[in-house]
Amino acid sequence: MSADDYKKAAARAAAHYVETGMTLGLGTGSTAAHFVAAIGEKVRNGLEIKAVPTSEDTARKAIAAGIEIIEPDETTVIDLAVDGADEADGYRQLIKGGGGALLREKIVAAAAEKFVVIADASKRVAQLGAFALPVEIERFAFALTVRSVRETLAALGYVDRDMRLRAGPEGPSFLSDGGNYILDCRLERIDDATELDKALRAIPGVVETGLFIGLADEIILAGPGGIERIR
Ligand code: A5P
Repeated sequence: MSADDYKKAAARAAAHYVETGMTLGLGTGSTAAHFVAAIGEKVRNGLEIKAVPTSEDTARKAIAAGIEIIEPDETTVIDLAVDGADEADGYRQLIKGGGGALLREKIVAAAAEKFVVIADASKRVAQLGAFALPVEIERFAFALTVRSVRETLAALGYVDRDMRLRAGPEGPSFLSDGGNYILDCRLERIDDATELDKALRAIPGVVETGLFIGLADEIILAGPGGIERIR
């Protein structure tokens, strides 16, 4: 089986949690797209749900799959959010934002009654940090914010790390759906994700980080050995 087959298997396992009447949070990325497709199939077989997408891309996919989309400000409840991850450790700590949707993903995950992460087993790591940490930053005076991020990282012992503004398909810089830049920080290993997340989010100009700490209720990993659940 390919990595994509495993992503699909994890997505299908998460789809079992979905019940009629739920309001779902739909994540972003290739694994979340399999979840959207699985829910679309259930909707065609009679499932009645509403969904809040975490990106324009997911909204398009959900509409194409026949899923009823509601605006995020039309609901105060999300029963279940399901999303992918770039890295997940055994403590259910995640790096997300490889697709640049981390802010909306974190808003929806934090609000959800239950947040389930789906991934192929290659995303499971012993320690976070090999995947460059995405940090969403305000465009205004971004060079000052980048300098502050660099200083904060150095103060925490992450010295001389590579940081770069993510390049975009249409211009020199990638813009999130909210119109912000993404700064990818290559840290190699993150020893204290909670401390790092807190320090970065304290910088004016930092909108959000791709560290998802204490949010995931369950991680469903699919690989050659079958399905593994971290709860
Ligand atoms: C999107 O911004 C990300 O957080 C994705 O959830 C993450 O990058 C995983 O994407 P894939 O499922 O495509 O690997």
